[in-house]
Amino acid sequence: MTDYLGFDRHDFGPDFVWGTATAAYQIEGAVDRDGRGPCVWDTFSRQKGKIKTGDIADTACEFYDRYESDLLLHKEMGFDAFRFSLSWSRILPNGTGPSLGGHINEAGLAFYDRLIDKCLELDITPWITLYHWDLPQALENKGGWPNRNIVHWFTEYVEICTKAFGHKVKHWIILNEPLAFSVLGYFTGQHAPGRRSFRNLLPAIHHTALAQAEGGRIVRRNVPNAHVGTTFSCSPIEPFSTSTRDRSAAKRVDALLNRLFLEPALGLGYPTDDLSFLSGIAKKVAHPGDMEKLAFDFDFIGLQHYFRAVVEHSYFMPYLWAAQISPLRRNVQTITEMGWEVYPESMYQIIKQFAQYDGIRKLYISESGAAFYDNVVNGAVNDSARVQYHQDYLRSVLRAKQEGLPVDGYFVWTFLDNFEWAEGFRPRFGLVYVDFRTQKRIIKESGRWFQKLLT
Ligand code: NOJ
Repeated sequence: MTDYLGFDRHDFGPDFVWGTATAAYQIEGAVDRDGRGPCVWDTFSRQKGKIKTGDIADTACEFYDRYESDLLLHKEMGFDAFRFSLSWSRILPNGTGPSLGGHINEAGLAFYDRLIDKCLELDITPWITLYHWDLPQALENKGGWPNRNIVHWFTEYVEICTKAFGHKVKHWIILNEPLAFSVLGYFTGQHAPGRRSFRNLLPAIHHTALAQAEGGRIVRRNVPNAHVGTTFSCSPIEPFSTSTRDRSAAKRVDALLNRLFLEPALGLGYPTDDLSFLSGIAKKVAHPGDMEKLAFDFDFIGLQHYFRAVVEHSYFMPYLWAAQISPLRRNVQTITEMGWEVYPESMYQIIKQFAQYDGIRKLYISESGAAFYDNVVNGAVNDSARVQYHQDYLRSVLRAKQEGLPVDGYFVWTFLDNFEWAEGFRPRFGLVYVDFRTQKRIIKESGRWFQKLLT
C-alpha cells in the first residue's frame, strides 16, 4: 500500500468538504426506464465516429439500480459529500413541465428522492448539479442552447427540481462546465449535440450565461439557506515563449477558458477586452436589459482543474489564434490516459488566480482526478499513479489554504469508473474500478488511500 505523506485531513480544517463527483449520464444507465426521455448524448453516441471507442452508455454503471450498494462503498471510503447531477430528461421527458406544455415524470423525481434519502441515511451530504450536459433531445430538436427559449425551459426545470428537493438538499450547483457544452457542443462539435457553426456560438454562450444566473436566483428563492454555486473547467495558461505574440495568445486563451462565464456572473461582463468577437453578443444576440441579468451573487465557485495549458500563437486556429503545445512536444514525463500533463503546481496557481476576484467568496475543487490504465491483479487494482496524483494535487490545495486562500473542499473526479463522453469507457478516473461486463466493483488502492486519510 502506498503511504500518504505530509498531511492528514485535520490540516485542511474541520469544515473542509471531502467528496466525490459524478454525473447522471456517465453513471446511471437505465436510459429508457420508468419514463425517462432521450437526451442529446443518447443520440450523439449512436452516430458513427462520435465516440472514439464506439461505446454507448445505455447501461453505464447501472447506478440507477445499484445506487444503494454503491453508496455503501462511498461511505466505506470515508467521503462525507456526494456530488451527482439530475437528468433533466428523466424528470421532464420532453424537456418542459406543465407550465410550458410538458409533463413531470414522477418516477424520475422518485429516483432522485430515493437517492437523496439514502445519502442522508448514510450521513453523506448530497450536492446536486442541475445540468451536467444531458439536454433533453426534445429541446435540442427545438434548437437547444442557441435558442433563447432555453432560458425559460431551464428555469422551469430548476423551479421543479428545487421545489421537489430544496427541503432536503442545501448544496446546489447550477451548471457543470458551461464552456464545454456550449463551445464543444455547438461550435467544435466534439460533444453532443455535435453542431458546428460559428453562428451558434454566441447565442449558445449568451443563453448559457443567462441560464447560469437565472438558475441561481431560483435556487436562492426556493431553497431555504441554500448554498449555491456553479462550476468551471479552468487551467492556468502559460505562453510557450516570452514573445509578444505568444503572450497575447495566452491572454486570449485565458479569457476563453477561465473568464468567459465567470466574469459575467461577477457583474464584470464578457471579457471582450481580450476576445473582441464576444462584443457580437451585446450587438446582435442580447435583448435590452440582459447584460444586468448575467450577474448573480454565488456563494461559491467550483473549480474543475486537471492540467495547465501552454500555448503559442497560431494562424491556423481561427478566433483564438493560439495553439496548445502538447505535453509530448514539451517532453513532459508524466501524462495521463487523456494525454493531460500531471502538474500539481497548477492546482495552486489556479486557486490563486480565481481567489483574486473580489466577488468570489468561496472556492471548492469540484473536480480533480486522473485517468490511468488500471490492471486487475488477483482481484485488486494497484493504481499507485492515481494515489500519487491526488496526494500531490491535494498538497497544492493545502498550500493555497495555508496561505489563507478561500478553498473549502475537494471532490474527486470520480467515484466510479464511468462513461468518459466522446472517449467512451476506456479512460478510467474512478476510485472504484467497474468491470462494465459484470458490473463488479473493486475499491482501488486510491480509494483505500482516501479511506486511510479520511477515516
Ligand atoms: C469534466 C466533466 O465535468 C466530467 O464530466 C468529465 O468526465 C471529467 N471532467 C473528466 O474529463
